[in-house]
Formats: sequence, C-alpha cells, structure tokens
Amino acid sequence: MNPIKVKENIYRLGSIDWDRRMFDALIPLPDGTSYNAYIIKGSEKTALIDTDEPSMKEEFLKQLDMVDKLDYLVSLHAEQDHSGCIPFVLEKFPEAKVVVSPKCKDMEMGLLHLPEDVFITVQDGETLSLGDKTLRFVYTPWVHWPETMTAYLEEDKILFSCDFFGSHLATSDLFVKDKIKVYEAAKRYYAEIMMPFRKMISKNLQKVLELDIDMIAPSHGPIYREPELIIEAHKEWVDAPPKNLVVLPYISMHDSTRLMVEHLTGALIDRGVEVQQFNLEATDLGKLAIALVDATTVVLASPTVLGGPHPAAVYAAYLTNALRPKVKFISVMGSYGWTERSVPVLSEMVKGMKAEILKPVVQKGAPVEETFRNIDRLADDIVAKHREEGIA
Ligand code: FEO
Repeated sequence: MNPIKVKENIYRLGSIDWDRRMFDALIPLPDGTSYNAYIIKGSEKTALIDTDEPSMKEEFLKQLDMVDKLDYLVSLHAEQDHSGCIPFVLEKFPEAKVVVSPKCKDMEMGLLHLPEDVFITVQDGETLSLGDKTLRFVYTPWVHWPETMTAYLEEDKILFSCDFFGSHLATSDLFVKDKIKVYEAAKRYYAEIMMPFRKMISKNLQKVLELDIDMIAPSHGPIYREPELIIEAHKEWVDAPPKNLVVLPYISMHDSTRLMVEHLTGALIDRGVEVQQFNLEATDLGKLAIALVDATTVVLASPTVLGGPHPAAVYAAYLTNALRPKVKFISVMGSYGWTERSVPVLSEMVKGMKAEILKPVVQKGAPVEETFRNIDRLADDIVAKHREEGIA
C-alpha cells in the first residue's frame, strides 16, 4: 500500500491486515484490521503519528521514503501494533525524536528497549509546532492502556485518536463509506477493548468533545469525516442506560441445560423482553461481548462437569466479569447428575460486576414441570427488576 493523501500535507500510512483473525491472542477479528500511521508535513517540521505492526515493517519503511527528514515520531500508545516499528524508524531517521507521555516513555523503554535520550515527553494540553501546523496533545488514559493520549491538529481540526474510536476492519476505504459496517466493527472493538474502562472513557469523551473536530483519524479502521457518527455511538455505548435485554450464554452436554435455557428464552419473549442466546460450544465471543454492551441482565447456564461448571462457561463468566458491562442483574442456571457445583462457582466468578444476583435455578437431572415453574419465576423476577429500572 502506498501513502494516501488525507488532506493537504497529511497522509495515511500503515497497512491493511486482511488475514489477521486474533488480536492480543484473545480478541477475534472476523473482519481483519488495519494499523494506521499518519505523516504530517508542516512548513518547518515533519511528524509521524504512530508506526505499524512489526510484521509489516518492510512495507512501512518503504512508505517512509516519501519524506527526506523526520523530526518527530509521535507515539500515542505503547502497544506494539502501533509502536512496534519505532526502533526500525529510528534506524532510518536517527535524528527523529519520539514524542510521548511520560508513562508511554517508561513503557516503551521496557517493551522496545529504546534508550531514554530518544524521547521527548509532553504534558496534557502541551503543543508542538511543525511551523504552519500545531499538534496539541490531549491525555486520554485507558484507551486502551494507561499511557494513551490523542493528538489534535489545530489548523486542520483533525483528532488522531489511536485506539480510541477505532474499529478492527480491513477495508480499502480511506474514509468511512459503509456506515453500518463500520458501526458494527466499532461496537465490537469497543466491547472487546474499551468497555472495561468505561468510566475513564466517559471522561475522555467529555474531554475530546471540547475540541472542534472535523475529522477523527484512528489507528485502526477507516477515518471519520463525520465524527458525530462515532461520537454519538460512544455516548450511547458508554453512558446510556442498558436496554430491556437479557443475554444468555450457555453450554449443555445432554440437553438438560439447553431445555432450561430455551424455556427461559421463551418465557422472557412472552413477557416482552429481548433475549440474545449464545451457545458457547460454537459462539463468536466477540458477538457475546457486543451483546453485553446493551444488556441489563445476564443469565449464565452450565451443567456441573468435573466438579464445577463446564470450562466454556467458566471462560464466558471470566470474560463477562472482566469486560465490566453495564449489567445490573445476573443469575445462573444449570443441571447436574449427582452433585451441584456449577452455580456457586459461576456466581462467585461474576461478583466483580457488582450486579444483583437473582435466585438461580438448578435441576438434578433433566428438567421437570417444577423446573419450568422456577424458570418462569426467574423470568418474572427479571421483568420486575427491569420495570424498577424503568426499561420494561
Ligand atoms: Fe491498537 Fe491497544 O493497540
């Protein structure tokens, strides 16, 4: 890929990773991703914003042939998909200074073994003149690590946001074209990467909204020429109350738990509640994460196996707890053969969410009429709780 002009003297570099299917060995990437870097040519100085994934270094260094001299390498975030090529860029342009937040400097000295004298640290709100263009640095911690900042190009009103407002989407579109596709990819990205830091993101949103932004140029996915699309989406995902939605991740070995889950799904639909059911045997956990953005209630369901919950349910419980969604109520269901150990273990695992635990439903063996009555009672409890929240 060649550098592409974004605006006069501003270019996008980097690469489109069409084939990548996992990020951080944790996050599914069904639509690939991109690693965006940007060159800004001022009348006096030239700056590069972020670099590229190290595996893309040859292509990236070739793109940098477009400049004779590099004065500043602005590193907004220390994670290696953006910082990994810094050592190679410095070999090509040894005079360049790496502009970072103090925390980022500390992290990149550890992650990339860079010497201290290559860095210039900037404070929140500090500016850097490139001549006729000025970069203002805005600290935005936890999007997605504690050291992250964004850079606002004052004259062009462009916010270089790195991970913030990004989407894992491999596309040849420089700017957002298919809004629905980008919205979905961005929601998945938010759910998987940003949601655990929701409270900080809410503060960061308020902070960047004070800027007069014409364009948001993230380091993953296409550039937003209509920034309100992604800003309004983030306001909804971060700050709006959860919806009248129950998310139901489950696993079943011999159908007993499945029958319980399907009964609950039907009972909730009858009561006017939206349900999203995920069979953990073959589910895309990214979709579960997306559903958690809007869910008010989660009901985890698993049989007891090997003295505890099924490992797939353990993973889902761990992930749900770690993602810190807005969920307010949680319950657990499951069947067992001779001893019940699924419900207590799962209930303990989700305590970090600080959601109210609704009375679980457990069944020895296959469900019977009484089991279904108990599940109906759970459905009634959920509806009553949602009404109390004003969402049912
Ligand atoms: Fe795209 Fe947190 O790195």
